[in-house]
Amino acid sequence: MSIRFEGDHSTAMDLVRVLPRTAEVGCVFDESHLFIGGVDTCRIAKEFGTPVMVVDEADLRHRLAAYRDGLGNRLARSRVCYAFKAFTCFETARIAADEGCWLLVASGEELAYAMAAGIPAAKIVFHGCNKTDAEVSLALSSHIGRIVVDSEQEVEKIDSIAKSHGFQADVLLRVRPGIIADTHEYIQTAAEDSKFGTSIAEGESLAAIRTILASDNLNLKGYQFHIGSQIFNIECFERAFEVMFEFMQEIKQTLGFEADEIDLGGGLGIAYTKADRPTSIEDFTSKICDIVLGLCESHGLDEPLIAVEPGRSAVGNSAVTLYTVGTIKEIDGIRTYVALDGGMADNIRPGLYGAVYEAFVANRAANQRDMLATIVGRYCESDVIIESASIQEVQPGDIVAVLATGAYCFSMSMNYNMAMRQPVVFVKDGKCRLAVRRQTLEDMIACEV
Ligand SMILES: Cc1ncc(COP(=O)(O)O)c(C=O)c1O
Repeated sequence: MSIRFEGDHSTAMDLVRVLPRTAEVGCVFDESHLFIGGVDTCRIAKEFGTPVMVVDEADLRHRLAAYRDGLGNRLARSRVCYAFKAFTCFETARIAADEGCWLLVASGEELAYAMAAGIPAAKIVFHGCNKTDAEVSLALSSHIGRIVVDSEQEVEKIDSIAKSHGFQADVLLRVRPGIIADTHEYIQTAAEDSKFGTSIAEGESLAAIRTILASDNLNLKGYQFHIGSQIFNIECFERAFEVMFEFMQEIKQTLGFEADEIDLGGGLGIAYTKADRPTSIEDFTSKICDIVLGLCESHGLDEPLIAVEPGRSAVGNSAVTLYTVGTIKEIDGIRTYVALDGGMADNIRPGLYGAVYEAFVANRAANQRDMLATIVGRYCESDVIIESASIQEVQPGDIVAVLATGAYCFSMSMNYNMAMRQPVVFVKDGKCRLAVRRQTLEDMIACEV
């Protein structure tokens, strides 16, 4: 077989921004292996099978702590809410709580899951654009920390359910500052044309605030916005805050209400490829503090509690997915296909919105990525994982690590072609522990009636 030597010749060293922070290359007999958290990833592949997700606990903790301290050291009051949907499992919830974070949940099921992991509802924020009565009821009867009101229609729903539970709900109002974030259009969420939140410009936010303030069952704590995801241009956040502070000042003047909390959502981008240069969490939080403190002064407003809801930037780079190479097909003069034993069932993002990843051979980790290949999955769709991947020369049986798969991969995984959801292994200080086992055929058959 003639392998195409057209890769970018990069090595693991060129991928440091994409890899988890404890990743290193170690010698195992005469091979160089990728180690994470002091554990040989090839050993994990052997012990737990592939595909398998490996999460660097130190990396995840470091990112959450960077948010917590970045805001906490400069602002009077702040809150980090880990967006649970980014990587939904007990262990991510518990680590976030252990780092002093709250959780953001996007459904009643996520709420129930978080509570089953031992997270008190009082430290959970529940948002969503179409919450059912049952979901609102669960949230309020559990004494949820904050419930986000997404529309004028929802004010009435939450009001009447709160009344029936005899519970005054602490609410945030989701607003659309009308900012077009510099990111993929599928993940822009605060433009005027969006299903999320109330429009400031159209007066929906003002109308919703009037109704909330008139209710005995709702306690308006402040506002939430979220301008999109995988954002590199921090100016988008600055523009959103400027709109928010203008709005807050106007509401103070017209209704006498001053928001106690501003929740800026998530959205900070991460490095998926070696070319990506995202802002660090440290720089991001420092800039947010500058913006907020400056705007409080210029608008004569008290400093509100600032909340942030990181998902991707908390967990995205903390994990890699390991696969085993199967068929390698060289189509003369066209391309080389390298097929892995997973794909769209464990990572739908390339198919969903053309997400781009980096990969390398974990059992020849020190070698240069000399080969150019199209890395595909095994499922019955085109199922391209990486269209033009630089990778070391591969052979069937090699272990391939696809990097930065921590966010929106496990939580979006599915059973297409009856794929069993991948297991999740956490690594730390030379030890690994299975956090989620692989789904089994018995699990699936148990749902059939
Ligand atoms: C309201 C809200 N907050 C936070 C997040 C997390 O965003 P990210 O993963 O980009 O940090 C999302 C994701 O869409 C969201 O909708």
